Amino acid sequence: MAELTMRIWRGDPAGGDFIDYRIPEVEGEVVLDVIHRIQAGPAPDLACRWNCKAGKCGSCSAEINGRPRLMCMTRMDTLPTDQPVTVAPMRTFPIIRDLVTDVSFNYVMARQVPPFRPATSGLDGSFRMAQVDVDRGQEFRKCIECFLCQDVCHVIRDHEENKARYSGPRWFIRFMELESHPLDTNDRRELLRQRMGLGMCNITKCCTEVCPEHIKITDNAIIPLKERVVDAAYDPVAWLGRKILRRSKRSAAEALADAPSYAAPTAEDLASRKSATGPSAASPSAASPSAAGPSAAGPA
Ligand code: SF4
Ligand code: SF4
Ligand code: FES
Repeated sequence: MAELTMRIWRGDPAGGDFIDYRIPEVEGEVVLDVIHRIQAGPAPDLACRWNCKAGKCGSCSAEINGRPRLMCMTRMDTLPTDQPVTVAPMRTFPIIRDLVTDVSFNYVMARQVPPFRPATSGLDGSFRMAQVDVDRGQEFRKCIECFLCQDVCHVIRDHEENKARYSGPRWFIRFMELESHPLDTNDRRELLRQRMGLGMCNITKCCTEVCPEHIKITDNAIIPLKERVVDAAYDPVAWLGRKILRRSKRSAAEALADAPSYAAPTAEDLASRKSATGPSAASPSAASPSAAGPSAAGPA
């Protein structure tokens, strides 16, 4: 029976390295199946996170041959098996052990998204939502929170210091879902501009390329958000209109006031999240994303 080599990153916050496992090839498998066979055989202590094995729970995110992907949705017959198949943990987040990373940065950012704030008047049941508004929100609701888009985004992938002021593509789609809802009355534009780092995104579309739900993150969320923020901050006609109508934009602090459990990460919090001993530090050549996927340092 033909064999293949799986090159898997093993380690913990103190350090680690890639280890090769030779294992028989079995037709019809996905990467997660092979990981399970390795757990059942040569490495019973190999840690990986998974749940549904159907591309719906977002747990099994990893970097396969350098590209952020779901292990349960990556068929082995789409990978060249005449060379080692590398599997590494997501590089943007701190290592817990082996293929498991601490993605709690994303939940810190989730708490900073002010929720839906419905209008208090005119809700007599006569409002009809246009289908286009329904469709727009539905696209963003497909997100399974795999955080592959956060992993690939170069703004935080190689710049730990940006995590304090950048919510990332997963949360930009949530902002857009709320901002484009016809009944929402909050105004998160100054918040996006001043504290969520929307301006740091340079629309490389790497996030869109890796999204397993095929959400058009850049085209349908980030670019429209940028247009709204620019209109609010720099459009002289909008500025004149606000003056005449005596209206003001909501400040970042006012918009944030709606977030029920807002908790900005402290310096200690961010320091503890540094992933200095991840796979790229341990073995840059084996799993460098530039080998087979989006660039670690910049746009794809
Ligand atoms: S387009 Fe590029 S820079 Fe912007 S959020 Fe996506 S991955 Fe990050
Ligand atoms: S937007 Fe796509 S890539 Fe990002 S967390 Fe959601 S499903 Fe994953
Ligand atoms: S195991 Fe649920 S998405 Fe892969």
